[in-house]
Amino acid sequence: MQKDIQKRRHEYTLKQLNEQDIDPNPFVLFDAWFKLALDANLPDANAMTLATANSEGKPSARILLLKDYSEEGYCFFTNYNSRKGKELKQNPYAAMVFFWPQLEKQIRIEGQIKQLPPEHSDRYFMERPVGSRRAAAVSPQSTILKNRAELETAIESFKSKFGDDFQRPDFWGGYQLIPEKFEFWQGRESRLNDRIEYFREDNKWKFQRLAP
Ligand SMILES: Cc1cc2nc3c(=O)[nH]c(=O)nc-3n(C[C@H](O)[C@H](O)[C@H](O)COP(=O)(O)O)c2cc1C
Repeated sequence: MQKDIQKRRHEYTLKQLNEQDIDPNPFVLFDAWFKLALDANLPDANAMTLATANSEGKPSARILLLKDYSEEGYCFFTNYNSRKGKELKQNPYAAMVFFWPQLEKQIRIEGQIKQLPPEHSDRYFMERPVGSRRAAAVSPQSTILKNRAELETAIESFKSKFGDDFQRPDFWGGYQLIPEKFEFWQGRESRLNDRIEYFREDNKWKFQRLAP
């Protein structure tokens, strides 16, 4: 165990999040913050934690890459038969969290999950490097492997059978999270952080400040 983690303290002092400065549309604020993360060249700026829960309400979380976003939804790609895929079938709601420590910012988004139309998944699949496409097609994500060799042998035999010429398998594709709630968090001094939550009321986005 690392003994000193209780003593670790980082003061957040970079920025403030004030009601008068923010856009009433959370998608606009997300876009502005996401651009800051990209412009700062943060490694994996599009990485986020996706939390799902099964039908018993037991949660699980993992890092995924955000691959597209618009006011329609926030998209990621994965194996539909994976653990997360099974949980999303049972309970099509999820939460996403982005954390950019260098910017002292966190964004949380919650909402319903829908599979992307197959054409959208086809398009993105074909844009991926061939090695990633092959891995998606061959790896039975979240199932138990005997050993590493089992996976590598499966990749080799797929390669000799299909070469570089194969289509997206039905079990792999995209989802979009359709936001119902956003929270923008800006670290401030002495843990008096700014938290602005957006929610929908009467078909409009509204925001309110939450205690840190
Ligand atoms: C930086 C990073 C990016 C990742 N991106 C993805 C991704 O876009 N899609 C994906 O299926 N898994 C991705 N993974 C792997 C997942 O974290 C996870 O191991 C996998 O999806 C299986 O999760 P599950 O068993 O909960 O379904 C990524 C992992 C890391 C660390």
